[in-house]
Amino acid sequence: MDKQELCPLEDIEDDDAVGMVARVAGKQRNIFVIRRGVHVHAYVNWCPHNQVLIDQIPGQFFNSEKTMLRCSKHGALFQINDGLCVEGPCQGESLQSLKCVVDNGVIYLVDGG
Ligand code: FES
Repeated sequence: MDKQELCPLEDIEDDDAVGMVARVAGKQRNIFVIRRGVHVHAYVNWCPHNQVLIDQIPGQFFNSEKTMLRCSKHGALFQINDGLCVEGPCQGESLQSLKCVVDNGVIYLVDGG
């Protein structure tokens, strides 16, 4: 199993997300990692609508209630758990989900995401 170290879990505040660059399928990509307690989700930071970073306002990945991920370009809303767009111009499409784990307090991307 190929594990790529991303960052310590404690570097991401609970219920927050942090953008970073990681190797995905052999290429350097902008990704972001969401922390919910001891659980994490990671996605490629690339909106399926217009192929731009979803945090056009850097570091802002959520809607105001922090219940959904939000692309700041045209407001598409994505479910946090699976990246599915449920509202907006790319409804029905998804963010590219990445496989990640927390091991000994460190977040890793697994098998190139
Ligand atoms: S580019 Fe993300 S909603 Fe349009």
